[in-house]
Amino acid sequence: MKVTDAIRADHRTLEPWLECLFREAARDKAPQPGWVKGVAQVLRPVVLRHAEMETRLLFRLLPQDERWVIHVTNEHREIERLLDAAADGSRSCLRHVANLLLGHFDEEEKFVLPLAERTLPAAALEALGRTWAQEAARGR
Ligand SMILES: [Fe+2]
Ligand SMILES: [Fe+2]
Repeated sequence: MKVTDAIRADHRTLEPWLECLFREAARDKAPQPGWVKGVAQVLRPVVLRHAEMETRLLFRLLPQDERWVIHVTNEHREIERLLDAAADGSRSCLRHVANLLLGHFDEEEKFVLPLAERTLPAAALEALGRTWAQEAARGR
């Protein structure tokens, strides 16, 4: 599997959780800070690992002056900041980061992954996909 398809598959796995969190965090009957903290503390390592792997295995191989590469890299920093705040119990940050991530996945899939597929040879994308799968299986 190409690394770009592995990234898409990760997005598909995370999306239903993010949609659920966004709805829950937005409800009139606000979830308790303990619930926000617990959810954010589970979500944080999963999302940060995904972002770290896509940066290290793929995005660093793309033109670093390309507008969408710069944009998603900046969003990774914002996502980390919001996840930290949510893990401290901020419901608004949990809601915001869930929504931001859904848009972020969409932008990566519309602009960054197609750029990678145009820029890098298919064999390289396949080799990176194997590395992605090995690292994902190791859980680190
Ligand atoms: Fe990302
Ligand atoms: Fe991603």
